[in-house]
Amino acid sequence: MLDTWLTRELGITLPLVGAPMGGRAGGALAGEVTRAGGLGLIGAARYNTAEWLDTEARTAREVGGGLLGFGLMTWSLHDDDALLDAVLALEPRVVTLSFGDPAPFVERAHAAGALVLSQINTVDDLRVVEAAGVDAVVAQGHEAGGHTGRIGTLPLLQEILESTSLPVLAAGGIASGRGLAAVLAAGGEGAFVGTALLASPETVGPAYARGRLVDAGSTDTVYTDVFDKARHQPWPQRWGGRALTNAFTERWHGAGADEQTLADAYTADDPDTGVVYAGEAAGLVTAERPAGDVIRDIGAQADELLARFR
Ligand SMILES: Cc1cc2nc3c(=O)[nH]c(=O)nc-3n(C[C@H](O)[C@H](O)[C@H](O)COP(=O)(O)O)c2cc1C
Repeated sequence: MLDTWLTRELGITLPLVGAPMGGRAGGALAGEVTRAGGLGLIGAARYNTAEWLDTEARTAREVGGGLLGFGLMTWSLHDDDALLDAVLALEPRVVTLSFGDPAPFVERAHAAGALVLSQINTVDDLRVVEAAGVDAVVAQGHEAGGHTGRIGTLPLLQEILESTSLPVLAAGGIASGRGLAAVLAAGGEGAFVGTALLASPETVGPAYARGRLVDAGSTDTVYTDVFDKARHQPWPQRWGGRALTNAFTERWHGAGADEQTLADAYTADDPDTGVVYAGEAAGLVTAERPAGDVIRDIGAQADELLARFR
């Protein structure tokens, strides 16, 4: 039994959160993670419509049994916060507001009954989200898949744990019970799991993405902004995205090309150019497996490892 602030607060059995992953984590994936005992979050991307969110929320609830959560990118809400309203209308139990200052949005999320968690990448970020009134923080390390900061998960987790009285979770590179056990033994309340779920049949996204992840090893990722530029995604410069390497990153990462050149060279449906965001835990993903099995195995292995100390 892995009993933490997270499991008690949400009434779940495993201190595991299916990470919000825009374009990859919809209702089916989130629901399976929740059904397995964690909480699966739906990744709400800027291009998602209220209809899409509604459909995915229904699926997540049908599969997972009621508990619902979404992850949003805070910087994108500063221009247009309609996505937050659409999400809160669905009465989620958890909302993550990551990458930016959530101060303008936390009170609204609380009023709608949601717990607010923020993924953070530095101690300065911690101070910003503490001041905004979030309920818990997630130390997200450089090895994470998708957009992230520049400090590794383990040093960041230790620094954040030493610096706050808020509950702290970890994200980035956690793909087995060994990773979860390390986080819990360090004093964390749980872990976000992203990459480990990305070879699951319940993911959405391009057909080639799961196979490319299974074939990739832990040295086959790159932290880059070339895909944001190629896809005209206006991410603030401080956050790069970790993706699997391919012919596109070999040619363009670090080449200093302008946004239009990159956009002209980019084709989403071609695996040689299309982006597959994934983290260094890619080396631990060796088969396409149902999300529920992945989550249950991580929980059981962590429980077994931690039993050594009981
Ligand atoms: C494909 C992909 C898409 C992601 N999209 C988002 C997102 O929309 N919002 C967000 O807060 N984090 C996003 N992330 C980051 C994850 O929430 C999480 O921090 C990360 O997956 C944890 O590291 P791991 O991949 O090593 O498990 C994404 C990650 C991946 C791999």
